[in-house]
Amino acid sequence: MNKPSDFLEFAINIAKEAGRIQMSYFGNISSLEKKSTNIDLLTKADLESEDYIIKQIRTAYPEHSILSEEAGDISTDSEYLWIIDPLDGTTNFTHNLPIFAVSIGLVQKGIRTICGVVYNPAADKCFYAEHNKGAFLNNKPINCTSSKTLSDSLLATGFPYLHDKRYDLSFDLFKDFYDRTRGIRRLGAAALDLCFVAMGRFDGFYEYELKSWDICAGALIAKEAGAKVTDWDNSALPYDGSRILATNGLIHKDMVKILTKDKYKIYY
Ligand code: IPD
Ligand code: CA
Ligand code: CA
Repeated sequence: MNKPSDFLEFAINIAKEAGRIQMSYFGNISSLEKKSTNIDLLTKADLESEDYIIKQIRTAYPEHSILSEEAGDISTDSEYLWIIDPLDGTTNFTHNLPIFAVSIGLVQKGIRTICGVVYNPAADKCFYAEHNKGAFLNNKPINCTSSKTLSDSLLATGFPYLHDKRYDLSFDLFKDFYDRTRGIRRLGAAALDLCFVAMGRFDGFYEYELKSWDICAGALIAKEAGAKVTDWDNSALPYDGSRILATNGLIHKDMVKILTKDKYKIYY
């Protein structure tokens, strides 16, 4: 890649430092606060990581807006908005599973993600991308797979924390795809699921009820690696994370066909 922009270089540096903060707690969780439900967890690592990232942005770019999972909306009238998940995969983190990440995206004028970084500190894997400049993992270009059929594909998904009336949707869809593919994985960190589509570990990923901080950076990284990233019905991606489908492009139509079955469409 040509020299990364100042924004990207800045985002990579703070993501790596936030990752170091996470690793200082990893395997040694002593302070757990529960969020909305008894399965939606929040740790000191989420909060310290967030605190660090927000302080750095406010120092370097005091005029920029910030939207971060735990701190919420810190608005200015800037055209730049940083969207942050200070620790994606908190449940994994608290159970000593090394599948978690920092996710930082920068959106301009509310429409375009101009750069994104997802850093998985336990594996020292830093994924990043800039609009129209390709996607990279630890400085090497990455691309999605070339599988043409669902039967040759490995998928990823996730399930929302809320066990509400759409509970069955997750499991019915899982069965539907499970019957047609090589399998489905549920890793528990949406930002990394998207990066794994980008680097070719997964051929496709779908989920619903995510938030903008779960997908902002990862969706750009996947797109820049050649993925197609849309709503479930192939329309433009809802940036609030309400639904996402990211594939290598070649299996997109087949996945849309399943996700838009009448029995699933009633849910959205
Ligand atoms: C969660 C993860 C998980 C997804 C959940 C998210 P968190 O984020 O991305 O994969 O299924 O819906 O909330 O809470 O660990 O930041
Ligand atoms: Ca998250
Ligand atoms: Ca989080």
